[in-house]
Amino acid sequence: MININITKIDHIGIAISNDSLEKSIDFYKHALNLKFKGEETIDSEGIKVFFFESGETNIELLTPLPNNDQSSVAKFLKNKGEGMHHMAYLTDNIQNAISWFISKGYRLINEQPKIGAHGKKIAFLHPKETNGVLIELCEVNH
Ligand code: CO
Repeated sequence: MININITKIDHIGIAISNDSLEKSIDFYKHALNLKFKGEETIDSEGIKVFFFESGETNIELLTPLPNNDQSSVAKFLKNKGEGMHHMAYLTDNIQNAISWFISKGYRLINEQPKIGAHGKKIAFLHPKETNGVLIELCEVNH
């Protein structure tokens, strides 16, 4: 039987332009005083991600790689400007979660999981299904 089990909000992704990256990192590090957990370049997405720890939920600053205006984050910045990009829910089984949403008639951007930051399996629901909130499903690293 298909089921879904969401265990927490894993992370919140925030789109930041290259120009304000330094100031934004400084804000999360030194004003909010969150623990900086490192950075990762994800070439397949054309972005660089900066991780901060906030309790059980990470904050991820997403910025396009320089000279990459085709990444989804670059397009987001162009269309909507900086701000919250997506919320990611952690699930114990992403295949089941995908099947669950398909069975209920929801559209997904990824009907097959792809690999995101930290090598996690991820999939996005279509934002038109969720009132403009881009929702990511991600699977805990087993
Ligand atoms: Co994410």
